[in-house]
Amino acid sequence: EKGGFEHFMLKEIHEQPKAVKDTINAYVKDGEIVFSQVGLSDEQLKNLERIYIVACGSAYHVGMSAKYILESLADIPVEVDLASEFRYRDPKLIENSMVIVISQSGETADSLAALRLSKEKGRPVLGIVNVIGSSIARESDYVLYTYAGPEISVATTKAYSTQLVAMYLLTIQLAKVKDKITEEREAELLTEMATLPDKIQRVLEDKERIQWFASKYANAKDIFFIGRGLDYAISLEGSLKMKEISYIHSEAYAAGELKHGTISLIEDGTLVVGVLTQQALFEKTVSNLVEVKSRGAYLMGLTSYGNYAVEDTADFSVYVPKTEQYFMNSLAIVPLQLMGYYVSVAKGLDVDKPRNLAKSVTVE
Ligand code: M6R
Repeated sequence: EKGGFEHFMLKEIHEQPKAVKDTINAYVKDGEIVFSQVGLSDEQLKNLERIYIVACGSAYHVGMSAKYILESLADIPVEVDLASEFRYRDPKLIENSMVIVISQSGETADSLAALRLSKEKGRPVLGIVNVIGSSIARESDYVLYTYAGPEISVATTKAYSTQLVAMYLLTIQLAKVKDKITEEREAELLTEMATLPDKIQRVLEDKERIQWFASKYANAKDIFFIGRGLDYAISLEGSLKMKEISYIHSEAYAAGELKHGTISLIEDGTLVVGVLTQQALFEKTVSNLVEVKSRGAYLMGLTSYGNYAVEDTADFSVYVPKTEQYFMNSLAIVPLQLMGYYVSVAKGLDVDKPRNLAKSVTVE
């Protein structure tokens, strides 16, 4: 049942090209996004003035990523909340808004409660859900299913990747109906999105190098992941993957925030992973890497092919193929998933069932 892989997690990491392709193919027909299955009309999307995204864990990190993309491409204000926080405050949801609940299982108690609260407040809810017929799918007004297939490993990988695609599709459609992008730009984005499965495959082919690096750092005490903008959202997910399955303390920081406290934690040999996929922020993050390096940090740089300048600072560099800047998360997350996986394996831990965690958190 593990298809020749040692763990479900590794199998699911390798299923990402297919999961991403299946999710794209479910909604892109003859070069156009078709949301008839979702039930959301162009008219409804056009009238939206604000989006609230609510989720937990990795699904929340998808929301963090989506915020940058939606605000920049579709020019719409977005708020992102943890479901466990949202449900216990009194969120002000403006009239022409929509709430998006992202959940692999569709059964997460806090996300379901946030959905119900949003409906009580009279706002439409779009569920981005993987499990067909789950509670969140049933109670949402609209459902955009992801096509990851069953995910067994507690640490999510392929579901996360398909949730990203769901958000790309929604963003492009919104940008289109709101006249924020030209037809040429829309076509360019859809063409580039279609290349992601092959590019993810290429990242997977480099896995031995990550495995080697992971085995070297299996005894690390702390790992920090830093980045700005979308790279910060990628860092959050990279850090969660690491801590949940390897039990190494890790934190993600917005690179500009280091000076406000975190940098005091950097010691000789502390591993810092710099995520640098966003061209406009590259130099800014490099200067933060230089700062931690001078405090003794060992640096891993994660960027796309061509950005070889990272080697002036980083001790170990990982490259992923180039793609549209908004889609970089889909490629950059793969080496970080593999890193968490291989550290966990090197430590001899129960990768698929990490201690104290459940696949779906149905009690708060
Ligand atoms: O089923 P859901 O997507 O609602 O689950 C949300 C989180 O519990 C989940 O993403 C969790 O953070 C993962 N174990 C992370 O790998």
